[in-house]
Amino acid sequence: MNLIKRPRRLRTSQSLRELVKETKLSASDFVKPLFVVNGENIREEIPSMPGNYHLSLDELEKEVKSLMAVGIKAIMLFGLPKTKDAEGSSAWQEDGIVQQALHLLKEKFPDLLLITDLCLCQYTDHGHCGVLKEGKIKNDETLTNLAKIALSHAEAGADMIAPSDMMDGRIAKIRNTLDQNDFKEISIMAYSAKYQSAFYGPFRDAAHSAPGQGDRSTYQMDPANSDEALREIDLDIEEGADIIMVKPALSYLDIIQRAADNYELPLAAYNVSGEYAMVKAAAEKGWIDEKKVALEILTSIKRAGANIIITYWADQAAEWLKE
Ligand code: PBG
Repeated sequence: MNLIKRPRRLRTSQSLRELVKETKLSASDFVKPLFVVNGENIREEIPSMPGNYHLSLDELEKEVKSLMAVGIKAIMLFGLPKTKDAEGSSAWQEDGIVQQALHLLKEKFPDLLLITDLCLCQYTDHGHCGVLKEGKIKNDETLTNLAKIALSHAEAGADMIAPSDMMDGRIAKIRNTLDQNDFKEISIMAYSAKYQSAFYGPFRDAAHSAPGQGDRSTYQMDPANSDEALREIDLDIEEGADIIMVKPALSYLDIIQRAADNYELPLAAYNVSGEYAMVKAAAEKGWIDEKKVALEILTSIKRAGANIIITYWADQAAEWLKE
């Protein structure tokens, strides 16, 4: 055959393939979510998320040390509070679990980037992400409470706040509150296009945050929609978001790509609990190779256009990348 163009030429050796690789993962792409609980000496593995734990503060410190040893430089904190009420007031207590964790980590690991997930669902007794009255989520009343949480996180040492509630107007409200209290340098990573997804199942078991009644479809986005994601992102940018996010990642690579094509802001994608759990479960059965599949998934998320990947594989993937 007289073929002039032979794409296989660039695949002939490992070094050549490395040279022309378009997407390269690195530990600095990853953010590791961590679940903090009250108590001492607690390191309880989350059954549906093997390799992830409920950690008391002493164990959190150990966990962070080992994350940093493999090159992870950013974490996202989720708290499991002692008590829940209708409003979710334990979310903004000065000595709440996330606030305590922030104080500790800021002091012990000044170079670690501390991101907090900002939401009410772990703190309300009804499990919804907002103020609930007569079965309805009250958007504007919720904003007041979200701002209280943001301020308490900032005061405790958070570097970046990531609101995941999907209320309208929350980014403006939070930005405003932070600025008025002289936290102008704290950045906001907005869960902008957050879908009402069944892939959050394992997380809700882990965070004890499943809604008691109903679902989140009046505030999280319909998985069928794509243009709406751009409208949500537009609003968050107008309101002052520094980083935008698409969540989940794997079934939403098209949304990640559209966001990357349309906006210049750093783009995060959340590789959520269900995406992790299904790989873990299949790997446990010996049906797939966890390492290869996980790295392929993470590569696809970055290839689609995400600059930042929030993933339960963060530390494991960082180790794999060194091999
Ligand atoms: C809080 C929140 C959720 C996740 C991140 N922040 C759960 C939800 O919206 O129900 C999901 C993370 C995951 O599944 O890994 N609102």
